[in-house]
Amino acid sequence: MNNEKISITPFYHEDTGTWSYVVTDKATSITAIVDPVLDFDLPSGEASYESADELVQFVKNNNLQFQWVLETHAHADHLTAAPYIKEKLGGKIVIGEGIREVQKHFVDKLNLDVKADGSQFDLLMREGETLPLGESNFKAHPTPGHTNDSMSYEIEGNVFIGDTFFHPDLGTARCDFPGGSAAKLFKSLQFLLSFPDDYKLWLCHDYPEDREAVACTTVAEQKNNVHFKKSGGDPEVYTKIRTERDSTLSVPRLIFPSLQVNIRAGQFPDDESNGRKYLKMPLSIKKS
Ligand SMILES: [Fe+2]
Repeated sequence: MNNEKISITPFYHEDTGTWSYVVTDKATSITAIVDPVLDFDLPSGEASYESADELVQFVKNNNLQFQWVLETHAHADHLTAAPYIKEKLGGKIVIGEGIREVQKHFVDKLNLDVKADGSQFDLLMREGETLPLGESNFKAHPTPGHTNDSMSYEIEGNVFIGDTFFHPDLGTARCDFPGGSAAKLFKSLQFLLSFPDDYKLWLCHDYPEDREAVACTTVAEQKNNVHFKKSGGDPEVYTKIRTERDSTLSVPRLIFPSLQVNIRAGQFPDDESNGRKYLKMPLSIKKS
């Protein structure tokens, strides 16, 4: 997908329904990757890099000058491959400053030895800050609601919107994670719809049943998003619809592995005394 100044190449991660993007400034070949995914098999605990290697190979094969890994948020449904990308291609790992609140919550919940100050990342973006990509710039727009650290990145008529809107037929992101808020997400959705109708909104996920996965939507298309439309543009109606729907959703299967790794900017925990790494899961014991 191209416009005059930048090119955008989407990569779909089948197992988690996640879109990653390679974004390149054409004049300079300076390149960013948005939301790279680590392959992770939950039952075996096996992590691998086939999907990340596709991104690395694309950058290498096209002789691109790699600069940034952008995270739209600390994902709960997949592990980030950001440090692997950085190891292979260089560059810096970037996320929204709201990551500190997400870290604080999961450090408490999982009793982790992780500083909740965002220091694991190379750069924390604040509202309105820009990040150069050759002759263009990414502009950071906080779009909280799904999580507190959710950040959308705008560049040249394109916005990488993280978990806000899904495909117009599927609706919008859930808001029942810690720090999530349907009222906040509604404001974020309204904000995204305030861009011109032809702006491209690039999805973080798609979960198609009987069609091809879609990466790119437009502001005009998202004005017909099923959840947003159903609310009639009323924040209270939207909050009610969203909250009712969230109460029916099960916990994402990778939430605890994902968060433990993603709040560390993708690093695994230190080795334990036997030289192996482990991830934790909090138990909730219900007695009858
Ligand atoms: Fe997410």
